[in-house]
Amino acid sequence: MQIADYIRAIPDYPKPGIIFRDITPLLADGAAFRQTINTLAERYRDQGVTKIVGIEARGFIFATALAYAMGVGFVPLRKPGKLPRKIVSQAYALEYGEDTLELHAEDITADDRIVVIDDLLATGGTILAAVEMLTKQQATIIECAFVITLSDLPGAQRLEQAAIPYYTLCSF
Ligand code: PRP
Ligand code: ADE
Repeated sequence: MQIADYIRAIPDYPKPGIIFRDITPLLADGAAFRQTINTLAERYRDQGVTKIVGIEARGFIFATALAYAMGVGFVPLRKPGKLPRKIVSQAYALEYGEDTLELHAEDITADDRIVVIDDLLATGGTILAAVEMLTKQQATIIECAFVITLSDLPGAQRLEQAAIPYYTLCSF
């Protein structure tokens, strides 16, 4: 079974010229979803992982399932204004405009060995902001993992240039 076979390409969504990579068929297939999570759990077994960090919103789906499968904690990186306790935050550039990720400051410390999960790597803006914030918390980032990488966009190259280890289950 190929994970890529469960990703639907939707042309011209949400704007003309964009091919949207839709993960919902993968989520709707129990065997494919389980294989996705099991592949990641196997990869990070025996590496002393303490927390799985997931990026809102689609990253949460895979990160929480992975944390459960591995028996470790899940920590969310959220869009602004959603976390009630003391936060650290990191702004980042979007194609048009800017967004911010926030983290409960005490949820990640220098003792943590983490895997950062998102569904998709495109320009890399989101994951680079996440890594910057988590590095400031002095956590050890074992790897950043994605279900999908868009190879015509610069995210993968930006991670390589910054020497940030990453893994992807499929590329388009
Ligand atoms: C999407 C995707 C990644 C990000 C990748 O999230 O889930 O988080 O874009 O793009 P980048 O590599 O160019 O930063 P989106 O902001 O659409 O949010 P969602 O998960 O809430 O749909
Ligand atoms: N996030 C950024 N680009 C995307 C794309 N082409 N498909 C799905 N999610 C995305």
